[in-house]
Amino acid sequence: MTTVPIAIIGTGIAGLSAAQALTQAGHTVHLFDKSKGPGGRMSSKRSDAGSLDLGAQYFTARDRRFVAQLRQWQVQGHVAEWAPSLYTAGSNGMAFSPDEQTRWVGTPRMGALCRALAADAQATYSCRIVEVFRGRDYWQLLDADNNSHGPFSHVICAVPAPQATALLSAAPKLAALVAGVKMDPTWAVALAFDTPLDTRMQGCFVQGSPLDWLACDRSKPGRSSTLDTWVLHASAQWSRQHIDLPKESVIELLCGAFAELINCPVPEPQLSLAHRWLYARPAGAHEWGALADSDLGLYVCGDWCLSGRVEGAWLSGQEAARKLIEHLEA
Ligand code: FAD
Ligand code: NAI
Repeated sequence: MTTVPIAIIGTGIAGLSAAQALTQAGHTVHLFDKSKGPGGRMSSKRSDAGSLDLGAQYFTARDRRFVAQLRQWQVQGHVAEWAPSLYTAGSNGMAFSPDEQTRWVGTPRMGALCRALAADAQATYSCRIVEVFRGRDYWQLLDADNNSHGPFSHVICAVPAPQATALLSAAPKLAALVAGVKMDPTWAVALAFDTPLDTRMQGCFVQGSPLDWLACDRSKPGRSSTLDTWVLHASAQWSRQHIDLPKESVIELLCGAFAELINCPVPEPQLSLAHRWLYARPAGAHEWGALADSDLGLYVCGDWCLSGRVEGAWLSGQEAARKLIEHLEA
């Protein structure tokens, strides 16, 4: 057991998962995030149409440990099942595409799960860490405002790979490995209509279009918007090609693609907004679990170390904590 706290950079689901495992093992952790609150790519955006899930849409659970965790979160009211009426869309039009997969969402919004996990954690928000360096015995973190934080016995970087690389200069081999991980962007657009669209579709996997996913946000459990809210995700390829387009143009183009796909009239939305996720998903697959320089006390986790999904991020956080505890006990 350490008396000097462990620093975790990133309060997405990976960082929070690591924090939970370490706290349960009796360690003290302190989390840092550059955003105003926790959640990362699982956070929801507040808008005049209520909270909207602009990032992660739902998650599946295939690993028995994550299944067990989900059951607990379900009992605590942090997640609920979402069984959308699923469709596919492509060059042959739109087709009903039901399946047996259980899908989960945070409730009453996706971001609520991470908020609940972070509720009792010691965390500093609006704090971008720019440097992680080791003194004689302990780690120190430097933020973008030149404030120093520490001492810490260990550091876990739970941020997207391109953002982790800069924090790993103390472990050049680790930094070089992480620098090789590319992540693709996603443009997300939310639309809210006064009158519900005349469609049964609540979620749609799209191919051969600028879009790759459509969802009726209001169809998720616990959402209370009085407007008919929709979230559209552009494909990685389209998002890359239009990475610097102004938001208004992104809305116009993706709204147009939506109107072409959906077999009903799409009126002028009451509200439209766009969000660019620069590091939305890993471009390739890895099965690292978590990465570490255990002798130095530096650990790295995140969705990109595993499946690039919520489940992978949670498992990666667990794995980083497991490696750290194992090294302490060795
Ligand atoms: P993140 O959530 O990215 O957390 C990293 C945190 O680190 C962030 O809060 C960030 O602010 C912080 N940070 C970064 N750099 C610094 C720094 N220097 N200092 C301090 N803080 C820093 N997954 C699914 O399973 N199902 C889906 O349907 C799905 N859809 C998605 C749709 C979109 C548009 C996106 C973007 C993602 C989607 N995902 C989906 C993926 C899922 O959201 C991620 O796998 C998961 O949320 C990643 O969690 P994480 O903790 O690894 O990283
Ligand atoms: P899942 O099992 O529902 O979907 C996995 C894939 O299977 C889907 O992408 C889709 O191609 C296909 N599929 C699933 N059900 C289908 C159905 N009923 N009809 C037709 N095709 C179907 O969920 P999983 O494995 O948990 O994946 C999460 C989802 O999150 C994926 O769709 C993935 O693309 C998406 N994601 C999006 C990101 C982004 O940045 N836009 C980032 C990370 C994940």
